[in-house]
Amino acid sequence: MIGIFDSGVGGLTVAKEVLKHLPEHRIIYFGDTARLPYGTKGSAFVQKYSIKITEWLLKRGAEAIVVACHTSSAWASETLKKKFKDVPIFEMITPAVADALKKTKNKRIGVIGTPGTIKSGAYEKRLLSADPSLKVYAKACPLFVPLVEEGWVSGGVVKEIIKKYLCPLKDKKIDTLILACTHYPLLEKEIKKAVGSKVKIINPAESLAKELKASLKKVSESGPKKSDKDHLFFFSDEPYNLKKISHLCFQKHIEVKVEDPF
Ligand code: DGL
Repeated sequence: MIGIFDSGVGGLTVAKEVLKHLPEHRIIYFGDTARLPYGTKGSAFVQKYSIKITEWLLKRGAEAIVVACHTSSAWASETLKKKFKDVPIFEMITPAVADALKKTKNKRIGVIGTPGTIKSGAYEKRLLSADPSLKVYAKACPLFVPLVEEGWVSGGVVKEIIKKYLCPLKDKKIDTLILACTHYPLLEKEIKKAVGSKVKIINPAESLAKELKASLKKVSESGPKKSDKDHLFFFSDEPYNLKKISHLCFQKHIEVKVEDPF
């Protein structure tokens, strides 16, 4: 069983890609809605709860962990990999960076994410250590998360806000843009329009799912999935607008359990 965690509902965009690429696997999802957002919290807070959630997922039978939250990936994945040495831990940054390096031609890459992800510099560090000749332009887009959680993924207001954040990146002549936040793939259509069709968009959820598929052959499986009911979705508090978000991700409603283990 694959354990996937996020600060809330946004990680369902990652669960969606995991289920698309690995349909035979069961997943257990945990969204920390009681403590959301992570994107504006400090690194110690994000590390503390990322450890607690990982321990909880392992106790519930997860055999591999996907850190779907980019802020957790940025602040906590190194700590998790050190603390849980025997567990395969997958984070969002490594596969997204690998895809961006493959796609860029002019070596000008944009990264957008939460204030925490951008402040951590995790994406820039990884990109520049792979290729110091790159130009990396990173920008926090804090209004994108509430827009998506409200179910606003298109229309005039959304277009205006996206334009305001992304015009400076367009001016830098980036040819590749990494959507380094769980919610941003739901804005992909409008983001594409704002930056222009020539800019290649990296959806890290897709990159992660492909990496997971290639690696998971090594991870033992606790029996094949029998039906969609075998997937488990936990939230630490009532998720806001779950109906809308689950329809945006899965085109259907999902059954969830509300339980705060901490
Ligand atoms: N899941 C977070 C991320 O991908 C976005 C929402 C939040 O700030 O908690 O960084």
